[in-house]
Amino acid sequence: MVDMSVRIAGVEFPNPVIAASGTYGNGECYTDLYPISKLGGISCKGMTIEPKLGNPPPRIAETYSGILNSVGLQNIGVHGFIDYYLPTLKEEGNVIIANVAGATVDDYIAAAEALDASSVDMIELNISCPNVKAGGATWGVTPEGASEVTRAVRNATSKPLIVKLTPNVTDITMIAKAVEAEGADAISLINTLLGMRIDIKTRRPILKNNMGGLSGPAVFPVAVRMVHQCYKAVNIPIIGMGGISTWEDAIEMMLAGACAVQIGTAIFSDPYSPLKVIDGIAEYMEKNDIKSLSEIVGQCQDW
Ligand SMILES: Cc1cc2nc3c(=O)[nH]c(=O)nc-3n(C[C@H](O)[C@H](O)[C@H](O)COP(=O)(O)O)c2cc1C
Repeated sequence: MVDMSVRIAGVEFPNPVIAASGTYGNGECYTDLYPISKLGGISCKGMTIEPKLGNPPPRIAETYSGILNSVGLQNIGVHGFIDYYLPTLKEEGNVIIANVAGATVDDYIAAAEALDASSVDMIELNISCPNVKAGGATWGVTPEGASEVTRAVRNATSKPLIVKLTPNVTDITMIAKAVEAEGADAISLINTLLGMRIDIKTRRPILKNNMGGLSGPAVFPVAVRMVHQCYKAVNIPIIGMGGISTWEDAIEMMLAGACAVQIGTAIFSDPYSPLKVIDGIAEYMEKNDIKSLSEIVGQCQDW
């Protein structure tokens, strides 16, 4: 047995493979297939302080090598999560990460305060949603917006804090540095890339929301590039995601600088994919006599 454990912000993960937010529900759909404790951790469905119905359908459009989604953060609210899902998740899972979104700073603070008093292991801040007071501009596209929300949540909780970055920016390192300066314990990236598809018969967008977020293998090279750039820019741990479907992808993401990975869209076509990635990494470590994942993380040498 190889040692696949990884420590992020003082939290011990038995292996570096985490289910990505919004693609694994709150674990409930998978418990019949396998013990969800096999995963290193679960980033739960993004939650807001009040329950949300999400966007009207269609909310998913297929693309080459991926999907576009505009689910719109459908969720039962932070208190619903704490009362209904969290007890089972804590019993059956490993590291439980609460993924939090908000339309105002006060929303984020209220969610963080409620979660601070709960048994979640970590908070992952989704800053890819619109800031209503900035006319709907996404928090995470400017260092100022990203800093404002990170600072507010940092002051509202002592839970380990991961800030999840949006790739819809010109220079991801500026955002990464800004949230590091405000006390983020780790960053995770990437969230989805803004995209659109049009039905040529109706001449209307396929998604009712017109635009949506692109994920899946199509975004993998973008994610690797951004993780590698951030690895060179910040000193906090990085959780890499975006298009990972195989153990080879996971190793590549680690070489770029990620100390752990999240798997999202791949789970829709193969719910066992996170387990296959875990087994593949273990086998790779054994074959190459790698004693610890730290021998891989960030080891890509630029030309
Ligand atoms: C249907 C769907 C719902 C998602 N919901 C959330 C969410 O609630 N919060 C969040 O931070 N990211 C959410 N994401 C983004 C994923 O967690 C992940 O960052 C992104 O899909 C890239 O990884 P992947 O290519 O492995 O899916 C969602 C993605 C999909 C496809």
